[in-house]
Amino acid sequence: MRATITLLPGDGIGPEITTEAETLLNELAEQHGHDFELHRRPIGGAAIDALGVPLPSNTLAACHQSDAVLLGAVGGPKWDDPEARIRPEQGLLQLRQELGLYANLRPVKPHPALFDASPLRSERLENVDLVVVRELTGGLYFGRKVEFRDMAEDVCRYERGEIERVVRRAAALARTRRGRLTLVDKANVLATSRLWRSVTRELVRREFPDIELEIILVDAAAMHLLSRPADFDVIVTENLFGDILTDEAAMLAGSMGLLPSASLGDKAPGLYEPIHGSAPDLAGCDRANPFAMFLSVAMMLEQSLGLIDEARQVEAAVHACIDAGQTTPDLGGSLGTRAAGAAVRQRLAESHQSASTEAAVRQPDPAPHTSALATARAS
Ligand code: NAD
Ligand code: IPM
Ligand code: MN
Repeated sequence: MRATITLLPGDGIGPEITTEAETLLNELAEQHGHDFELHRRPIGGAAIDALGVPLPSNTLAACHQSDAVLLGAVGGPKWDDPEARIRPEQGLLQLRQELGLYANLRPVKPHPALFDASPLRSERLENVDLVVVRELTGGLYFGRKVEFRDMAEDVCRYERGEIERVVRRAAALARTRRGRLTLVDKANVLATSRLWRSVTRELVRREFPDIELEIILVDAAAMHLLSRPADFDVIVTENLFGDILTDEAAMLAGSMGLLPSASLGDKAPGLYEPIHGSAPDLAGCDRANPFAMFLSVAMMLEQSLGLIDEARQVEAAVHACIDAGQTTPDLGGSLGTRAAGAAVRQRLAESHQSASTEAAVRQPDPAPHTSALATARAS
């Protein structure tokens, strides 16, 4: 297939993990005969330095013209001056809004070989398999802001339609999984949460009567995520709560460097990115874990390009490396970013090679009258 993919490396470890993903995509395309056009564009701090804005119009135009967008990370101490009016993170927020990416899917499924990497006891991690669907284009992030020296204000606003579309998506996802949806809110305090609660109850009753709906307050949810993580199937929540809870959930998997995400709207392109940030402490050290980026590539292959076999192969290659202890230091391994990337690509190449050999062995005799198809037709 032909696909145009915009790569947004960004800042910190972003360029390092994006380079690994780019090499992986090129090798995958070669193995499967796909034509992936990969274009790199600046975003975040790198774009501020080069062009003075965190989301240059050429970057946004390239994203609009793509089948999918893959992002590393943005931000870092260089652009953290509290007085600064232009920040790298604004580029990412604007991109999410311009592309209409209201649903951010963040799956969490700890790998058994990594149970020891999590601060939680192993028995708590067994059977954990959840997806947080985070609302991504509303709430405090996008409400009116006032900023003075002695006073500041962030308005949290949600409208019915914004809640309905993301809850509908989460409920539909739950239907394909274990049929459980958990709404996380703060309805004992926040008016927006009370709206979330009534809209969600109505929508589930009307459109998803087969789905089991649980509703919990966000402070309790932070606890339940640690005390009974295996009970959750799909969690749906507003923008800020989803941001915070998913960094917490990353520790179920063992590292920030493992969690991928897909940000989706009603039309292409989708945006795929690890949930972690630019990890300034690791930038330029060849120590960042590229697996969250690879798993984001797998989500992109499946959800935006429909390449399900390829997606499963990328996931399997990452899991095989984890099983073999071929990991970066955050997971107890000794590989650098580049070596971990090469290890995954090596596994992909080997599985492709053995699949091709198997297919060749299974090839029927080229003589038409002896082929399996001909025999079946004749009988
Ligand atoms: P962070 O996610 O960058 O780092 C938190 C911790 O996780 C650090 O100890 C870091 O070393 C570790 N970590 C993160 N990614 C890792 C990886 N791939 N491999 C191994 N360890 C990894 O969060 P932070 O330090 O709070 O933020 C740093 C900057 O990143 C800030 O400017 C923030 O705004 C930005 N940020 C960007 C995104 C994004 O672009 N999507 C997401 C989160 C934070
Ligand atoms: C994330 C990040 C972003 C967010 C920042 C960088 C704007 O933390 O993608 O989780 O808060 O959404
Ligand atoms: Mn975050």
